[in-house]
Amino acid sequence: MDKIIIKGGRPLKGTVNISGAKNAVLPIMAATLLASGKFTIKNVPDLLDVKTMSNLLRIIGAKVQYEDHTLTIDTSECNFFEAPYELVKTMRASIYVLGPLLARFSKAKVSLPGGCAIGPRPVDLHIKAFEQLGADIELNKGYIVASADKLKGTHVNFDISSVGATGNILMAAVLSDGRTVIENAAREPEISALANFLVKMGADISGIGTDRLLINGVKELHVVDFEILPDRIEAGTFLIAAAITGGEIELRSVDPSHVSSLTGKLRNSGICIEEGESSIYCKAPERVRAVNITTSSYPGFPTDLQAQWLALMCVANGSSVITENIFVDRFTHVAELRRLGAQIELKKNIVVIRGIDTLNGAPVMSTDLRASASLILAGLKAEGQTEVLRVYHIDRGYESIEKKLANLGATIRREEGGY
Ligand code: EPZ
Repeated sequence: MDKIIIKGGRPLKGTVNISGAKNAVLPIMAATLLASGKFTIKNVPDLLDVKTMSNLLRIIGAKVQYEDHTLTIDTSECNFFEAPYELVKTMRASIYVLGPLLARFSKAKVSLPGGCAIGPRPVDLHIKAFEQLGADIELNKGYIVASADKLKGTHVNFDISSVGATGNILMAAVLSDGRTVIENAAREPEISALANFLVKMGADISGIGTDRLLINGVKELHVVDFEILPDRIEAGTFLIAAAITGGEIELRSVDPSHVSSLTGKLRNSGICIEEGESSIYCKAPERVRAVNITTSSYPGFPTDLQAQWLALMCVANGSSVITENIFVDRFTHVAELRRLGAQIELKKNIVVIRGIDTLNGAPVMSTDLRASASLILAGLKAEGQTEVLRVYHIDRGYESIEKKLANLGATIRREEGGY
């Protein structure tokens, strides 16, 4: 297993291009199952999770090719309606094939996602809403076995705003009989991108970007070409990388409006931020001020940037409080950051961080995608050498992060082998 080795202490300088969004391309790839034919999807990031979803679509019978950030997916010969445990255990987002398979083929067998490092992640909202659409759902030997002659429009009101459940039900509702209303729908830009992709395929959806989606089912959908929006979490990670190193960088191919909850906090912590149409310039002081955050669903502060913000607060001037409201156990990075000397108190879903001048390099262990990003950021600041182990986690969601950081002047490299 690879590891990433960092010598900290260099302010980042230069420009970086932001890749396409992982959490948009995964549901959009699944949505191609809703129509028969060849799709072309552009600005697709080169990630492990994209490879996993490609393999899942191949198992279902699709032909998938990836070249130069472009995917071509031909779904005309899909004939197998199962997402096996072997794949689902490596990527929970595999559950996104449940809606499209049920809608197009009236049956699906998808492994129930298991435990996750960031805390309990049930799929009860997905299952309850599919039953409301008229599907018969049975849990059998670790699989969700679903069938429905024809899904029927209904009124879904989610108890919790769920990205995954909104996306799955949206993909099922577009081919259902009649009208579906989704209340308390997720408003994340990745869900709006999925809805726009479906509309381009011929779906009838209104209220996109709001928490109330109206879908009038249509008889059939058609193939399209589409471009994936920029990854706001990758963008946020690079902005915090500039902040923690006292750097000056410019992000390109980014949508500033999608990271406004973060840029607001960065400004409060003393960072100069200038936004262009598809760029963000960021200049950081030597040391930022401590600023509290509370995670919430979009447009609030994203839970997927909580770990990175925590790393920054470890070296901020003053103490800060972080409250995690989406995944209450999402703090596996705390113990690793403490190994670098960070002063962090953890109580349930709240951490109190006492900022210190600097951190000291040491070997640390990645536990999940965003936790590993926070360890890389801490390593960019720490004195001496930091080794981040098990970086396969980071390859799931960041395209060549060490190369992009090295282009910004960081002393960072990947080394094969390690435990
Ligand atoms: C998506 O996960 C993202 N993953 C996550 O990003 C992100 O952290 C999360 O949304 C929140 O923004 C992808 O898009 C592939 P949810 P998802 O359903 O859909 C509870 C990353 O780092 N819930 O919005 O699984 C759930 O436990 C990943 O890129 C239920 O209780 O998240 C959580 O507390 C990590 N029952 C809350 O809702 C359900 O049936 C929000 O989860 C579904 C969810």
